[in-house]
Amino acid sequence: MTTVRSDRTSEDVLHPLDRLTAGEIDRARVLLEGAGLLGPTVRCAVLALEEPSRAQVRRHRSGDEVDRRVRAVLLDRSTGGSRTVLASLTRERVEEVVKHDPATDGQPPIMLEEFEAVDEIVKADPGWVEAMSRRGITDLSLVAACPLSAGSFDLRGERGRRMLRVLAFQQHRPSDHPWAHPVDGLVAYVDLIERRVVELVDTGVMPVPAEEGNYDDPEFTGPPRTTRRPLEITQPEGPSFTVERDVVTWEGWRFRVGFDPREGLVLHELSIADPSTGDPSTGDRARQRPVAHRASVAEMVVPYADPGPVRFWQNYFDSGEYLLGQQVNSLERGCDCVGHIHYFDAVMADADARPRTVSNAVCMHEEDDGVAWKHTDLFTGAAQTRRRRRLVISFFATIGNYDYGFYWYLYQDGAIELEAKATGVLFTGVYDDRAAEWSTEVAPGLAAPYHQHLFCARLDMTVDGERNAVEELDVRRVPRGEGNEHGNAFGRAVTRIRSESESGRIADGAAGRKWRILSTEATNRFGRPTSYVLTPEGQPTLLAEPDSSVARRAGFATRHLWVTRYDPAERYPAGELVNQHAGGAGIPEWTRADRDLDGQEITLWHTFGVTHFPRPEDWPVMPVDTCGFRLTPHGFFDRNPTLDVPPGS
Ligand code: CO
Repeated sequence: MTTVRSDRTSEDVLHPLDRLTAGEIDRARVLLEGAGLLGPTVRCAVLALEEPSRAQVRRHRSGDEVDRRVRAVLLDRSTGGSRTVLASLTRERVEEVVKHDPATDGQPPIMLEEFEAVDEIVKADPGWVEAMSRRGITDLSLVAACPLSAGSFDLRGERGRRMLRVLAFQQHRPSDHPWAHPVDGLVAYVDLIERRVVELVDTGVMPVPAEEGNYDDPEFTGPPRTTRRPLEITQPEGPSFTVERDVVTWEGWRFRVGFDPREGLVLHELSIADPSTGDPSTGDRARQRPVAHRASVAEMVVPYADPGPVRFWQNYFDSGEYLLGQQVNSLERGCDCVGHIHYFDAVMADADARPRTVSNAVCMHEEDDGVAWKHTDLFTGAAQTRRRRRLVISFFATIGNYDYGFYWYLYQDGAIELEAKATGVLFTGVYDDRAAEWSTEVAPGLAAPYHQHLFCARLDMTVDGERNAVEELDVRRVPRGEGNEHGNAFGRAVTRIRSESESGRIADGAAGRKWRILSTEATNRFGRPTSYVLTPEGQPTLLAEPDSSVARRAGFATRHLWVTRYDPAERYPAGELVNQHAGGAGIPEWTRADRDLDGQEITLWHTFGVTHFPRPEDWPVMPVDTCGFRLTPHGFFDRNPTLDVPPGS
């Protein structure tokens, strides 16, 4: 395995979408301190690049001065007050300060240091300690207090408080994985500002499951199998991609790598070369044709099904509440990619607004992917086959018990795929007659509650230019009758999605439903609009009741597709401050404007995910489960764009 590290140590910013540098984070901190906005009690929950708009990026020419702005969400730990600050690094001034009302506006995301605080807070609470001792647990050093986002349930006394809810797990010794031993029937509601337990829900002593789940211990797993022979990938001439600063080119694809503390990996300015537009005799390069201005997974929510008093509140917005990007793994110690790997480091701000570098945060490599096309001809006897390759750009983030991988795949034929991988350890409770309705027994007496992992991709589409439109494509059944005497006919039904109020769509596998994003300006050689088609997996959307707290807060997840008019301020589908927000923000709010979509700059929001009924095989560590979607060119090229791929690997 060969690896190359990305070396963006250079502090010069040349492009408006260049990632925030460590130097810029330092300058932002100095600015905020100078304006009296950061201080001993004020913590920086988020500090990110305020991305320029599509129009600003379009206008930028090489050599232009770049206007750099940052957005910070600050929390005063002494009062619970929070604000969002916009500052210009170019003009060296704070440009906007918005103070939030914690009772109505939601809370800044949960910070890593608050995870640690929770452990101290519950262990200092006499009621919690006594509840533990009633359960025969006295060695609190072997109790893991699990900090969980509180949601918004209008519970007595919670309005405006900064809260976490805490479930506990026991360890038999420090190396024993706690998830095997839930201390069930007990949940502490913690106020993070007052630093105390404000409510203790104790539904009674339950037995703590005893069987261990130590998947990393040979005593538990047995000796490793010895049946594997080495399988090595070699690329003697190196990879087929090039990286210049953060701009990647590979097999006609061109894009810019971005990294956001909330969303993680972002692909900017994704375009593909059209081989048919190049002229090999003159050496003219094929024209780059835009596909998307920006692509990311902008939110996700994990709602749990158990309605009992200890768990009804369990739903986690891993991006908006926990900042998925900030929890990115450093792949220094273990990367699941093979071959020639290019790594990108991620530079983010910590709670002191100081730069923190996660080395090897994003992994990029190319993969053989089986057969691209093949034919053995009956008449000519010709036998041709071509192999397919894909470029893989990925990262992994760990949020508590779960680990999520996000893999973007670019193919030579113009297809784009996003695959989300869920692995890690199941969330657990005690399995009894009550829990049986909402969970699977995965070890003796150990329950894994049913839940969903619902992701929302944000796709700022630019199929062959800025002006796009969207159609819903279904199969169309045709009744027997005149012109269809034998009843074999079928066709395609096309519905134009003209405005935002029409855009909340549900996938339908039985109708072969897809969504087509087409240019309203460019046409192919048949005179028809060039387009890409989004193929959804069509798994269940949010299963909670429409008037439930989580459905109000995760409105995006009630439909597979939304389309909105592009607005740079509309970033996250569940809104800006998701933590403890009562709901209604983001897509439900934006689409009420019912803006016209046809021939406009548009953003697609696609919800996909896994509805997870855990299996015994998911314990004690879960084999990767996947979900995602595919974007495929559809009349974008005039013919198969991979005819020039030579035989061989
Ligand atoms: Co799951």
